[in-house]
Order: sequence, then structure tokens, then C-alpha cells
Amino acid sequence: NTATVSLTGTKPIADVPRRLFGSFVEHLGRCVYGGIYEPGHPTADENGFRQDVLDLVKELGVTCVRYPGGNFVSNYNWEDGTGPREKRPVRRDLAWHCTETNQMGIDDFYRWSQKSGTEIMLAVNMGSRGLHAALEELEYVNGTAGTELADRRVKNGIEEPMDVKMWCIGNEMDGPWQVGHMSPDEYAAAVDRVAHAMKLAESGLELVACGSSNAHMPTFGEWERKVLTKAYRNLDFVSAHAYYMDRGHRTHDAVELQDFLASAEDMTYFIDTVAKQADAAKAANHGDKDIALSFDEWGVWYSDAWGEQEEAWRQESANGLHHGAWPVAPHLLEDIYTAADAVVEGSLMITLLKHCDRVRSASRAQLVNVIAPIMAEPDGGKAWKQTIFYPFAEAANHARGDVYVPAIDSPTVATKSYGDVAAIDAVVTWDAASRRGLLLAVNCDLGAAHDVTVSLDGLSDAGDMTVTRTRILHDDNPYRQNTAEDTDAVTPGDLDVTTVDAGTLTFALPAVSWAAVEFT
Ligand code: AHR
Repeated sequence: NTATVSLTGTKPIADVPRRLFGSFVEHLGRCVYGGIYEPGHPTADENGFRQDVLDLVKELGVTCVRYPGGNFVSNYNWEDGTGPREKRPVRRDLAWHCTETNQMGIDDFYRWSQKSGTEIMLAVNMGSRGLHAALEELEYVNGTAGTELADRRVKNGIEEPMDVKMWCIGNEMDGPWQVGHMSPDEYAAAVDRVAHAMKLAESGLELVACGSSNAHMPTFGEWERKVLTKAYRNLDFVSAHAYYMDRGHRTHDAVELQDFLASAEDMTYFIDTVAKQADAAKAANHGDKDIALSFDEWGVWYSDAWGEQEEAWRQESANGLHHGAWPVAPHLLEDIYTAADAVVEGSLMITLLKHCDRVRSASRAQLVNVIAPIMAEPDGGKAWKQTIFYPFAEAANHARGDVYVPAIDSPTVATKSYGDVAAIDAVVTWDAASRRGLLLAVNCDLGAAHDVTVSLDGLSDAGDMTVTRTRILHDDNPYRQNTAEDTDAVTPGDLDVTTVDAGTLTFALPAVSWAAVEFT
């Protein structure tokens, strides 16, 4: 039951991209209203931003936040969220069947990003709108004063251009659920036109085409090939989205839980396949740049509850009924996460780091209340951390410098969907400037603990290593959760690490665990 993790002979694959620790704020449920924005809350500042939430966002270490959707963006008018709040229109949001008050919009989100110290990544509406609205939004957001739209922004109180560099051209346009969804050929032509025009307007933009909504969409592969081949010259990124869930969570089925613990296999397949399509598009265009991946929605989402809600609506309308309620900021997608969910998210983060030569940006979805690491209780209540907060925060706050992908020799575990997979996965970052390193590791085996021996010898300039800090997240009950009543049921503790010699560490990882070792 011993795994070896060795850096001997390895070279760094890339630097750690700061944008890898991005997140996502969508106008969905209580992510915005009752999440980041709640004017009546005791901690709200003059803008209505909850300070308790902001404090946790900073502690999480989020670097970049995608906004305002998600499915929401595909029937959103960006202008609705600008100007005096009392004049903003109230509208229906078709994506989540809610009423949108527009009390938060791009100007307010810009102010929030300044407070949270995060970069903004904006998505434009390619569903009910397109080229014209995208160009107008770009001019409003980034334009220098002196044109009608830039001056409107100044009048609305934002004097300086927001300088938003990364723009997503639509959201999940391959998905039949998306307002205005498109075929691969339709989207390829549309994104090429919009990206071309946006780059005429501003040369330094980094533009993200919609990729596939998951690696099992009927058009997966074909979508990327057609879109990237057609629009190669005008694009910088292609998106990837993937959510994972334990399909046996209601019955505590061990086979399903083991499958879920190996979700990184699917993410790896997704990344490798899209990277190949991007390389083929580069070759077809005789190009010299690599299209990078923006994994701009990832995480654990128990989507069965939302699926049941949609099915209930379908039944109602099949019976000739009109489903009446269009609530404002209802409790939607408020998943409460387990210890096992945190291990899976830790392993997905390791996968992203191991592929950061291609994945140069990622957004964990979402940030607050909605499938989120941070929960914000209503009615003046507190904000608290879900189990999944911890692996993200560790990587975001401590993974620096260059990424090393170790050679791993691990016991295997049998899974339903992926065959036999390695129980242990790991990645190492090393910052030569500060001479600090971080090892992140998981044991995704439901049935057994494993001893791990790590050889850091391959870090050429590292010399003698001293372990400075360790973390382990594990619970004997993989289904244990943090809740509003018991916010510290699952929190990281110290991991016992033995230093065998200058470059060799050993420790034991219990079944279903995530760990971090910082060294200098
Ligand atoms: O994050 C929740 C939803 O998942 C997003 O709105 C959509 O893009 C994806 O399907």
C-alpha cells in the first residue's frame, strides 16, 4: 500500500497562472442578491456589499471572477444593470425562471471587484443578442471618456475604463437548454465575427470561445474542431465546463462514491481532447499561437435537484398549466458539501495544476451560496465555509512559481467508469524566488489508506528541504458536512510528515483524503 511520488528528472511544465484560481458569480439564486450584495445586512458597506462575504472571498484567495453568467447571460441586457438603481428595469430571467431586479450590474460588480481585489472576466450575451450589444458593452466598460458609451459610464460614476481583458463570447452555446443555442457551424461563424470586431475595437483583449458544456455532449470534439478552426485567428481561449456529483449520494452507494472520487479522470480526458483539437486548428490555420483552455466552470454540483425541478415544470406545461412563480433570488442550487466533495475538488485542482501549460485560466463555479465554497445566511445571519473551501484556498494562497508534475507509482482502485485508476495523485509547485514549495496530494481510494513517499530531488535548486506547514482534510465519515449550525465539522488538521533525508518525505494518507505540505 505504498505510493511513490518522485520529481527526479522532471522539469517544470509552466508557471502557476494566477487566473487558475478564478471563481464565478452568476445572477442565479442567492449568489448575487443575498450573497455578495445584501444592503440590509449588518455587515453591508455603503455599496450594499456584505463585508463578511468579502472577508471570506479574500481568505479563499480568489484571483479572477467570471460574471454575470452562465445561462443567465444568454437573455441579459447589460444596460439594465447600469444607471440609478431606482430606474433600472425588472425583467424575467428565462434561464433560472426568476425575476431579475437589476439592482446589481456591471458598474456595481466593478466596484465589488475593486473591494475584493479580483480581476473581472466578463461574458457577453450571444443568445438573445450578439455582435452589436457586445461591441457596445465593450465600449461602455473599457472605453476612454469622449464617446457616448464611455461617457455614460463616467456619468454613472466610474471615471476610469474598467480595463477588462478577458471576455467570454457567450455561454454554453452548444447546450440545448441555452437561450439561443447554436449548432457548431452557427456558433463558429458567430464567434468569429464577434471576436474579430471586438479585437478591432481593442487589440489587447483575451477572447474566450464557448467550448463544450461537458465532455459528453453529442457535439463534443466536433464543436471544438469547427469553432477553433474557423475563428482561430481571433481567439485566445476555448472554454471547458465540467461538474461532478456522487450519483449515489441519496443511498450512500459505495460504487458510485468511488466513481465520483475518480472524477479527475474525466477532467483529464476533457483537457487532453480539447488541447488536441486546439492544436489541429492551429495546424489547419498554419498558426503560431496555442489556443489555451479556460476551464471556466468546474466543481461539484448535485444537479439532480434542479433536473427534478425542470421536470416538474415540463409536467405542468404538458398538463396545460402555466407555472406561475418567477421568484426574486430564491434558494437555488444551495448544495451542502461533504468531506468527500472536498477531496474531489482538491483532486480537480491538482488536475488543473498538472495541465496548466494548456489550462491558463479556470473558474470554480460558483462563489457564494450557489454550488459554492462560501455560504451567506439570510436575515442578518453569518457567512461560513463549506468543506470545499479548504483545498481551493490552499492552492490559491500557496501554489506559486513553477509547476512540476511528478512521476507517481501508486496502488490502483477499481472504478465503474474509468477502470483501474491510481489511488494517489499529486502535484508540486516551487517558487525559486522565495524558495518555497507546495505539495498537494489526494488519496481517492474509498477502501484503504496509503503510505506515500515523496522524493523532491528533482527540484534542482532546492537543496535541503524543511517542512514548514502541513494540512490534511479527512473524515472517517466521507459524507460529513459543514452546516450553518456546525460550521467546523470538517476542517483541515495537521498531517504527520517524516523527513527521511534532505529530499525525501513520508506520510500516510487515510482513505478519501486531501493533503498539503509546504516546504522551504
Ligand atoms: O453554474 C451553473 C450553470 O451551469 C451555469 O449557469 C451554466 O453555464 C452551467 O450549465
